[in-house]
Amino acid sequence: MRFYFAPMEGITTYIYRNAHHKHYGGIEKYYAPFVSPGPDQGISMKEAKDVLPEKNQGIPMIPQIMTNRSVDFIKACQVMQNLGYKELNFNLGCPSGTVVSKKKGSGFLAYPDELNHFLEDVFNDPMIVNKEVEISIKTRAGKASQEEWPRLMEIYNQYPMKELIIHPRVREDFYKNTPSWESFAHAVEISKVPLVFNGDIFRGPEYLAFVERFSQIDAIMLGRGIIRNPELAERIQNGDTAADAFDKKRFRAFHDELIEEYTEYMYGEKPVLYKMKELWFYMMSMFPEKEKLYKKIMKTNRLDEYRGYMDELFS
Ligand SMILES: Cc1cc2nc3c(=O)[nH]c(=O)nc-3n(C[C@H](O)[C@H](O)[C@H](O)COP(=O)(O)O)c2cc1C
Repeated sequence: MRFYFAPMEGITTYIYRNAHHKHYGGIEKYYAPFVSPGPDQGISMKEAKDVLPEKNQGIPMIPQIMTNRSVDFIKACQVMQNLGYKELNFNLGCPSGTVVSKKKGSGFLAYPDELNHFLEDVFNDPMIVNKEVEISIKTRAGKASQEEWPRLMEIYNQYPMKELIIHPRVREDFYKNTPSWESFAHAVEISKVPLVFNGDIFRGPEYLAFVERFSQIDAIMLGRGIIRNPELAERIQNGDTAADAFDKKRFRAFHDELIEEYTEYMYGEKPVLYKMKELWFYMMSMFPEKEKLYKKIMKTNRLDEYRGYMDELFS
């Protein structure tokens, strides 16, 4: 199985990606969280910073673009191509209210005809036709209902994309309910493009259930599962599919590197603690016996106190 690291805005920053890539294996590609070019404005410097090659040295990283205007998408592709990227990902999954209300991310899925025109423009652009950059798509199965999925698949099937990454929830699910394996099975049946599955593969047993049903799929994108256990992909690659195995020492070294890097690049203790707390929201379930400590970690506003809790947690 090939594993991709999902983009997670605010979480999988270049600092996170670098630390993960240094301490753990098993990941073929890291997807950067979306950059969103404004109409005719290009990409902001703040957004571009995360994808600058010098911040991502030696990491196989794919930038992601979110827009509903083909001109802006193509312009962003040119910027990324100038930075040296040969593969870019298009976001059709983001469920956030502010994004969806602008008809972007999973909001764009509610307008299949417009989406079709958008893709027609993009895939007819000489840069894409000549494969100077290749495009993959990350999509949900619809905006409001899984019934939208067959039409969306019909559209996707017309374009020579590198890969179609499917998170088979609809926007209205946000992260509730379960990804529809039925919709994914429909894609497997009719797809003319290579498919990647994404959604709720959190531990070895879920991985095993997936491969039992979809033995023909050779790529999975992991998000919250690998934030929770950064060793997940590597363990599975090594044939260890036990539920929650991990090496505490390595986890600590990875964690300490993250905090050192965030401390160096962010101003003040609070933003650093905010970043770490976002991670602990996912990682804490690896330490089920430490619930009381979790509450303390989430409450503290002091880095020295936080470090003390880490000594306790990893002891
Ligand atoms: C906090 C957070 C931020 C996310 N940011 C992005 C993003 O920038 N681009 C994107 O395509 N998906 C984003 N996602 C969705 C994930 O990439 C992934 O599709 C989702 O978490 C389902 O996979 P999982 O069940 O393996 O976590 C985000 C998800 C979360 C929870």
